Amino acid sequence: MRLGDPPAPDELDPIERVSRDELRELQLERLQWTLSHAYENVPLYRDKFDSAGVRPSDCKELGDLARFPFTTKQDLRDNYPFGMFAVPRERVARIHASSGTTGKPTVVGYTRKDLDVWAEVMARSIRASGGRPGDIVHVAYGYGLFTGGLGAHYGAERLGCTVVPVSGGMTPRQVQLITDFRPDIVMVTPSYMLALLDEFESQGLDPRESSLRIGIFGAEPWTEQMRAEIEDRFDLHAVDIYGLSEVMGPGVANECVESKDGLHVWEDHFYPETVDPFTGEPADEGELVFTSLTKEAMPVIRYRTRDLTRLLPGTARPAFRRMVKVTGRTDDMIILRGVNVFPTQIEEVVLRTAGLSPHFQLHLTRPDRLDVMTVRVEARPGAEGRAEAGEALRRAVKDTVGVSVEVEVVDPETLERSVGKLKRVIDKRITRDN
Ligand code: DLL
Repeated sequence: MRLGDPPAPDELDPIERVSRDELRELQLERLQWTLSHAYENVPLYRDKFDSAGVRPSDCKELGDLARFPFTTKQDLRDNYPFGMFAVPRERVARIHASSGTTGKPTVVGYTRKDLDVWAEVMARSIRASGGRPGDIVHVAYGYGLFTGGLGAHYGAERLGCTVVPVSGGMTPRQVQLITDFRPDIVMVTPSYMLALLDEFESQGLDPRESSLRIGIFGAEPWTEQMRAEIEDRFDLHAVDIYGLSEVMGPGVANECVESKDGLHVWEDHFYPETVDPFTGEPADEGELVFTSLTKEAMPVIRYRTRDLTRLLPGTARPAFRRMVKVTGRTDDMIILRGVNVFPTQIEEVVLRTAGLSPHFQLHLTRPDRLDVMTVRVEARPGAEGRAEAGEALRRAVKDTVGVSVEVEVVDPETLERSVGKLKRVIDKRITRDN
């Protein structure tokens, strides 16, 4: 195989080659099963459907799904820990949970069949990224209750790869293992990939000389500019993977390496919609909403992800719609003196500004009852002219994003590095005035 070549037709799962009409027929059948399964086995769904005056039998075509009520993270919290399960607990083969920043974690469960489907969509995702049986896969997503590590692990095994289950952390050792084991593929958050990049350089190793050909990056938003930065400095293909624990974990959608034009949603298992985040009405661009189509242990009906994107027709896998790279979450949006700002917008500008590294944080303060955002960004090692770079960034943010920010250019290697998901925003505003 050549790097970036599409898989040959006989390497694809048969489902990846069906027509859109065939896929829709399968989706309707599976959706009808899911709605009945949820209604019959989960009190929350029975109550919600009854209050909305809908029955599973009202779903006669895919468009009827819009008549059914949404599910939110709060519903999962209210039914902590196992109240969302649609099968007896004894049939649940594994539990994962996402920690969340406040309150109780969100718990999810999988039957053996669910785990099998998850491994299958993950294997499909790794192959879409350019991976093939026999490749060595270095998994640096965290193992444990987080779905990243184990999700990637079983998918890579399913594809027939050699898995190195490193998990996150101990950065110098990660670099040593990459150097010694010569993996073809790394699976890690894009922000931790930057930390690995720095570690290569601080050990005097040229990252471009590493064995890595493919990076499968997700679990947090990242931009095209970040893709260019990582691809150039590591000489590999950087491919986007998306997922969330409530729906399954990683492998809900994945880019195809040959097109890198958005993430194909594996719609035979996860049915996507986009809605206006405020009204909940269908919208071309908006909040992504998922309904699981085959999950046994924890079906989700119209789950509000809070992730913002747009759905487009399929390309490399024509029957499967694509989602545009996620720009951010509704809850990541910063409203700065009336202007909506996403951290990814700042990332794009930082990476275009000469002399600045991709490591930055956004600090929010409210000194005189007015919100101030300070971009604290590391200079590139060896770069001259920090004041000029800072001023260039300030101007570029004003021109492209439309807000005035303060900029502090700090020494390389002074900002905290993330091991898993990155915390980009540090909000020190006093809530008293809110
Ligand atoms: O982050 C699952 C995952 C692991 C995906 C490894 C990809 C790779 P949660 O911890 O439940 O699950 O967090 C899900 O992370 O709603 C998005 O806000 C964000 N997210 C995940 N993938 C992407 C991505 C995992 N490719 C939440 N781009 C989601 C942007 C992403 N945001």
